[in-house]
Amino acid sequence: AKVIFVTQNNGSMEVEGDSGSLMELAVANGVAGIDGDCGGVCSCATCHIYVDPADFDKVGAAQEVESDMLELDDKVTEYSRLCCQIDVSDQIDGMTFVVAN
Ligand code: FES
Repeated sequence: AKVIFVTQNNGSMEVEGDSGSLMELAVANGVAGIDGDCGGVCSCATCHIYVDPADFDKVGAAQEVESDMLELDDKVTEYSRLCCQIDVSDQIDGMTFVVAN
């Protein structure tokens, strides 16, 4: 899948991958603002992204553990997800993710 990350300094970056999590893909490509401090176990929120509302159904809502973590982040919106909890697959091909941090 090819996806685009838009960072808070307005840079955007197209990256490509076909396995692992979206957080791992972002870190591997040096996307600014995605740190993945906890290694992808849903306990740090340094992989917070906003999903394009038009495409939100493709990734769906956060599970409970993830929502609890997101609620601690004051930048949370209804389109927030922790991208370590999103798998890279054809399902998300072409999507744009805005980095929250
Ligand atoms: Fe820590 Fe996603 S990498 S919550």
